[in-house]
Amino acid sequence: MRSLLSLSLARLLFYACSTHALTFPVRVQSRADDRPAAGRLSARASSGNTILPVHNTQNSEYITNITLGGREIPVLLDTGSSDLWVTGTIPETTDLGVAESLSYAVGTAKGDINTADLQFGNYSVEDQAYLLVPNVSSFSIDIVANGFEGLIGLGPNTGSVIRDKMDDAKGDSVLARIFQENTTSSNYMSILLSREGDSVTNISSGYMTISEVLPGYESITSMPKLSVMKDNKLTDLDQHWQTYTDKDGLIGPDGNPIEYDSIVPSAPDGQLVVVFDSGFTLPQVPRTVSDAIYGRVQGAEWNTEWDAWTIPCTQLLNISFKFGGQTYPVHPLDVSSSDFDIVNSNGETVCLGTFQPISTSAFSLLGEYDMILGMAFMRNVYALFDYGNFVEDTSQDLGDPFIQLLSTTNLTAAHESFVQARLSGVDTTGNASQALLPASEEQHSPESEEEKKQAYEEMVLSRWPEIFVGCLIFVLIVVGIIIWRCCFVRRRRKRAAEKGLLPSANANVSSYKQLAGSSTATLVDMQNMQGKHV
Ligand SMILES: *[C@@H]1O[C@H](CO)[C@@H](O)[C@H](O)[C@H]1NC(C)=O
Ligand SMILES: *[C@@H]1O[C@H](CO)[C@@H](O)[C@H](O)[C@H]1NC(C)=O
Ligand SMILES: *[C@@H]1O[C@H](CO)[C@@H](O)[C@H](O)[C@H]1NC(C)=O
Ligand SMILES: *[C@@H]1O[C@H](CO)[C@@H](O)[C@H](O)[C@H]1NC(C)=O
Ligand SMILES: *[C@@H]1O[C@H](CO)[C@@H](O)[C@H](O)[C@H]1NC(C)=O
Ligand SMILES: *[C@@H]1O[C@H](CO)[C@@H](O)[C@H](O)[C@H]1NC(C)=O
Ligand SMILES: *[C@@H]1O[C@H](CO)[C@@H](O)[C@H](O)[C@H]1NC(C)=O
Ligand SMILES: *[C@@H]1O[C@H](CO)[C@@H](O)[C@H](O)[C@H]1NC(C)=O
Repeated sequence: MRSLLSLSLARLLFYACSTHALTFPVRVQSRADDRPAAGRLSARASSGNTILPVHNTQNSEYITNITLGGREIPVLLDTGSSDLWVTGTIPETTDLGVAESLSYAVGTAKGDINTADLQFGNYSVEDQAYLLVPNVSSFSIDIVANGFEGLIGLGPNTGSVIRDKMDDAKGDSVLARIFQENTTSSNYMSILLSREGDSVTNISSGYMTISEVLPGYESITSMPKLSVMKDNKLTDLDQHWQTYTDKDGLIGPDGNPIEYDSIVPSAPDGQLVVVFDSGFTLPQVPRTVSDAIYGRVQGAEWNTEWDAWTIPCTQLLNISFKFGGQTYPVHPLDVSSSDFDIVNSNGETVCLGTFQPISTSAFSLLGEYDMILGMAFMRNVYALFDYGNFVEDTSQDLGDPFIQLLSTTNLTAAHESFVQARLSGVDTTGNASQALLPASEEQHSPESEEEKKQAYEEMVLSRWPEIFVGCLIFVLIVVGIIIWRCCFVRRRRKRAAEKGLLPSANANVSSYKQLAGSSTATLVDMQNMQGKHV
């Protein structure tokens, strides 16, 4: 039963869409109960920072409790959106009578904007704005049965739909409020995700921290600071935690960089734009990248139901990302997943290739990013997100926002844990059956009609300045030719008339005829021109 529910949740997260993706849950574990009562969530008087244990169910469910208006509520954590919504009854809340809806691929959270007092770890916020959603039946899964009753967005404040609607600092996101009100702290949070099914590498519990580095992981502060790209779009509602990889920053299973040209016009040559979004169970990558990872595996099959590759569960694949000169390997247990109960065309149980071709709902229509690195990547790093000047109305920490990543994946240990989990302890990763096919035999996944259309629109949108200039030049040339023809012919006519070759009484009529004739010539000339051009 549990596994069925989790499976549907996995699907839910799997299909969650980019801007308001359903996400990444962190459950405050019962360990909190061991603490002295005064140190627990009610601790308004405490000046301590916050470390919340993160519970993981089947690598797709991470939930934390918040206390809102006097009720303790488990919510999903989402770095890909910036709003808080909850369902159910809130004992002490004020309905502002302003309706709003937040769209997710799996349904819409619809309700009134409310305010209520919030406790999040040791932090308290008065009159936090949030959306109270009375009816979640529009979601394609039973949210409450899946163990959460809301979602908290941890993205930049500028991405908040509620703030945008209220057009007022009162609508600020939870973390913005926390950072504004506790000005002695640094404006950052950090996340460590655990991995189920991994007996060797021991991150048994995940954590989320606010303004505090997790003990034992202090070296994250000396990792390179990856600058956060600011969207250069009309609306800032899509602002994400996004940055560049290094040049040739994605290493494929054969140890060579995967070649891919960024669709982001401003991306430096060879670098890719990635979004860190815990709302996605499966990282969303360009189709050619997904094909490069899985298309050379013996027995790889494209699965049309999941729109992703499947491979034999025994296949160990190494891939890694490079950021700021550091290499971040991905645990082989994260490159393919056994959590999805999938069989191939021979009826054999197979594993899902987690780096999925970017779905149309996540497609970056304006060419803002190339890939969304969801949980299957984020489990491999301890990640620190510094909001810097994303936070307004504070005098502290006004630098540019940045991201720091500390690798948590030791490939030697990861290899061992793969052998335990998938190969019953017998290392067959060197078998001939596990060797990658030559690049020339790589399989390619089919591109959908919808995707072709989107890719075309994307091309048009991202290239519109060139296309516009091209059209303008073309129009100018045509107009130029017409004017030239017109004047030239007029002048010739005028000269002819001056020489008395044309009867002056019929001047207008012949003039018209000649003009008509000359524009035909112009058309023919243009056809010739185009013919040559092509
Ligand atoms: C989180 O909240 C739920 C629902 O109120 C409650 O049942 C659960 O015990 C809480 N978990 C912790 C760790 O406090
Ligand atoms: C709150 O602060 C106290 C005192 O510094 C600390 O012991 C406790 O762990 C903090 N609580 C959480 C949830 O981080
Ligand atoms: C919730 O909405 C559905 C339709 O989306 C409706 O059938 C149902 O009665 C509503 N439930 C409540 C409690 O309002
Ligand atoms: C944060 O600020 C609020 C409001 O000023 C205050 O009540 C709370 O104690 C502060 N929390 C911490 C952890 O500093
Ligand atoms: C993992 O945890 C177990 C039990 O807590 C411990 O015995 C083992 O040494 C740990 N392994 C690693 C690699 O830390
Ligand atoms: C994966 O990477 C590790 C460490 O670099 C290496 O020892 C191992 O041979 C690689 N395995 C495969 C199948 O590529
Ligand atoms: C990686 O894991 C192996 C095997 O568990 C261990 O011997 C080695 O010390 C680890 N390396 C690092 C850098 O922690
Ligand atoms: C590896 O090779 C051995 C012996 O050739 C065979 O028994 C085994 O099934 C193979 N394992 C895999 C995972 O292909």
